[in-house]
Amino acid sequence: MSAAPRVTPAPPRKRKAVTLSTLGEKKALGEPIVMVTAYDYPSAKVAEDAGVDLVLVGDSGAMTVLGYPSTVPVSTEEMLMLAAAARRGLTTPFLVGDLPFGSYEESNEVAVRTAQRFVKEAGCDAVKLERGGSSVERARAIVDAGIPVMGHVGLTPQTAVSLGGYRSQGRTADRALEVCEDALALQEAGCFAIVFEAIPSDVTALIMPKLEVPVIGIGAGPDTDGQILVLYDVLDITAGRKPKFSKNFLAGHDSALEAVKAYTQAVKTREYPAPEHCF
Ligand code: KIV
Repeated sequence: MSAAPRVTPAPPRKRKAVTLSTLGEKKALGEPIVMVTAYDYPSAKVAEDAGVDLVLVGDSGAMTVLGYPSTVPVSTEEMLMLAAAARRGLTTPFLVGDLPFGSYEESNEVAVRTAQRFVKEAGCDAVKLERGGSSVERARAIVDAGIPVMGHVGLTPQTAVSLGGYRSQGRTADRALEVCEDALALQEAGCFAIVFEAIPSDVTALIMPKLEVPVIGIGAGPDTDGQILVLYDVLDITAGRKPKFSKNFLAGHDSALEAVKAYTQAVKTREYPAPEHCF
């Protein structure tokens, strides 16, 4: 009797690196885009292995890992160190570095120089900045310098004091119109995607048909092209008050990796966000 031929199992298929085209294709196909924050090498490895599309080294790291009372005090040097560590844990997801408060507002030249540092020194693929208004010109200048930019409208934590605190934005017709105008201006300036934070679901649904670039929501309802959560909210290790949109995905799972996989799956199947996570 001849021995059965030995079958060597195929090696696990490597995911292709996520690019700007991947994101555009996902939007066109209506496939939810999964984004999570990471602030260091091990958390980036978890995001990599869980199969997320985009990683943000958010200035939320000011609070979640550095212990500041808000995102305002974090410096460019601190953000660059977090971003460079996250870079070392990633090969597949598209990496976005958050420009900290005070590092881009002053002029287009300052904005471009800071963005270049995130690309050259930390290896980011793109940067994110907050607000419409003068940030639109800063975004345009950075895009013109060859660096992809993600916008961020609605609740913009760097300027939360002027917005009346950490509260949802767009609850009046005037403010909803402002949020819409900011998003359209950032799109027109060349942003490849826009974060919608803490915006009532109905307002998001009204704005979405006007946007050609992917919209990534956090507390902005189920109608965005993708979702982002702060990693430490996913893992339920955020100190203090938890935002309405946060969800503990560690419950019922026995590792950070399984929790982030569960979050990824919940976004892809549109089980998250549920109505209780929306305004
Ligand atoms: O800093 C951050 O984590 C963010 C996300 C909440 C979008 O800006």
